[in-house]
Amino acid sequence: MAPLSQKIILALDVETLKEAEHFVKKLSGSIGIFKVGKQLFTHCGPTIIEMIHRHRGKVFLDLKFHDIPNTVARAVEEACKLNVFMLTIHALGGKKMMQEAVAASSTFARNSSLPSPLMLAVTILTSLKPDDLKDIGINTSVEEAVSRLAILARQAGVNGVVASAQEAHIIRAACGNDLIIVTPGIRPQGTSRDDQKRAVTPHEALLAGSDYMVIGRPILEAHDPLKVVQEIAEELREGNN
Ligand code: C5P
Repeated sequence: MAPLSQKIILALDVETLKEAEHFVKKLSGSIGIFKVGKQLFTHCGPTIIEMIHRHRGKVFLDLKFHDIPNTVARAVEEACKLNVFMLTIHALGGKKMMQEAVAASSTFARNSSLPSPLMLAVTILTSLKPDDLKDIGINTSVEEAVSRLAILARQAGVNGVVASAQEAHIIRAACGNDLIIVTPGIRPQGTSRDDQKRAVTPHEALLAGSDYMVIGRPILEAHDPLKVVQEIAEELREGNN
């Protein structure tokens, strides 16, 4: 099993390549995976991924693809060429879109020397509340929608889902241990919650069944980011004993 610190994914929620490189350089000895989202990728393009690879980090490309199946499949192929470790698509794009995304990734891996990235589905964005779901015609509870979409993602061959720690048990109940669960909304004890209303500690996330934890501001805004990472890894080790 990967060391517990390898469960930590740093959300590189910064604006520029220079800022991102500052954190990757400092932390790549302790953190294995760096998440690149829409802002940083739109600003830097593939150079951001090359930079992370240069420092021996793995890339979680969090662009949440959602489009017609063919368009998503072609975008996934491009992400595969960039040798990313994980990437996200929206389960709300439907089963066929997810199946074609998975197929594009498998075909690419078969025809190249690079492995298939882990394909993660986003179910219901945690920013959406029950009324927002109603507005878009989803008349079930958030929990039911999350569960239904996680089952659909699994049927489509997706490797995992992005979900809050509160949703992890719903997903485990619906899909068993097959799916990897990646959880944001993590706050080490004693740090600010920022805008994460239902944040959990790294230990609680581990107990909830999280396989990987996405953490941004508690590390990025720390006076000593490396120390925070070491403390989180220690908390995970203690929780695992
Ligand atoms: O700074 P913080 O630790 O809150 O960053 C969490 C990261 O996880 C951000 O990149 C954010 O976009 C992402 N995320 C989240 N909540 C979700 C899905 C993704 O905070 N439900």
